[in-house]
Amino acid sequence: MTIPADKIYPRTGDKQTVYLKNVITRPNIEVGDYTMYNDFVNDPVLFEKNNVFYHYPINNDWLKIGKFCSIACGAKFIFNSANHTLKSLSTYPFPLFFEEWALERKNVADSWDNKGDIVVGNDVWIGYEAVVMAGVKIGDGAIIGARSLVTKDIPPYTIVGGLPAKPIRKRFSEETILRLLEIRWWDWPREKISENITAIQSGLIEYIK
Ligand SMILES: CC(C)(COP(=O)(O)OP(=O)(O)OC[C@H]1O[C@@H](n2cnc3c(N)ncnc32)[C@H](O)[C@@H]1OP(=O)(O)O)[C@@H](O)C(=O)NCCC(=O)NCCS
Repeated sequence: MTIPADKIYPRTGDKQTVYLKNVITRPNIEVGDYTMYNDFVNDPVLFEKNNVFYHYPINNDWLKIGKFCSIACGAKFIFNSANHTLKSLSTYPFPLFFEEWALERKNVADSWDNKGDIVVGNDVWIGYEAVVMAGVKIGDGAIIGARSLVTKDIPPYTIVGGLPAKPIRKRFSEETILRLLEIRWWDWPREKISENITAIQSGLIEYIK
C-alpha cells in the first residue's frame, strides 16, 4: 500500500493540504503514506523550508514521520544545529566562524550539541503551531496540543499540551492502547483499512474486524 508518487493534493480544489511524503526533497526526511500537512498561511509544498529548521546535512540527523499523521499549520521541528553547545564556556559558535578564528573547517559541528533524530510515530496529530525539539520521539497515536513545546519523548496514545508539553491524559484505556499498538491498523492493506473505517471512527476497538 503506497500513495502514487505524483499525488500531492488529497482533496480536489484544496491546495492548502498536501500528502507530505510527496513534497519532501531532503534525503534525511522520511514521511509515511497518507500523512498530511495543512497550511493556510504559506504554501504547504514548502514544508521543509518553513517548518523544519536548523536541519543541516553536515549533522546527518533525521526527521522521521510515520503514516496517517495530521500535521497542523505552522507546526515546527527544530533540529540539533539550533542547540549552541553548552559544553563550551561560551555559547558563541566559534567553530561555525572557522575562517574568522583560524579554526578547522571540519569541526564546524562542534558548534552545537547533538540530541539526535526527531521521530514521530503513526496516527499522530500535531496541533497548530506546536514545536518539536531535536531528539524527541513521539509515540503512535499521540496528540500534541496547539502551541505546545515538545521537549521530551511522548508515550503512545498520550495527549500532551503546554510549554513545556506535559501529559494531559491518555486517549484510551490501557487495554485498548495495547490492542491498537498490536494491530497497527496503519500497516494494513488499503482495502482492509477501507472496510474498517466505520469501526475505527466508532472509537470501539471491539468493532475492528
Ligand atoms: C489538546 C486538545 C486535543 C484537547 O484535548 P482534551 O483532552 O479534550 O483536553 P481538554 O480540552 O479537556 O482540556 C484538558 C486540559 O488540557 C488543557 N489544554 C487543552 N489544550 C491545551 C493546549 N493546546 N496546551 C496546553 N494545555 C491544553 C486544558 O486547559 C485543560 O487543563 P486543566 O485540566 O488544567 O483544566 C486540544 O485542546 C488541542 O490543542 N487541539 C489541537 C487543535 C489544533 O491545533 N488543530 C489544528 C487543526 S488540525
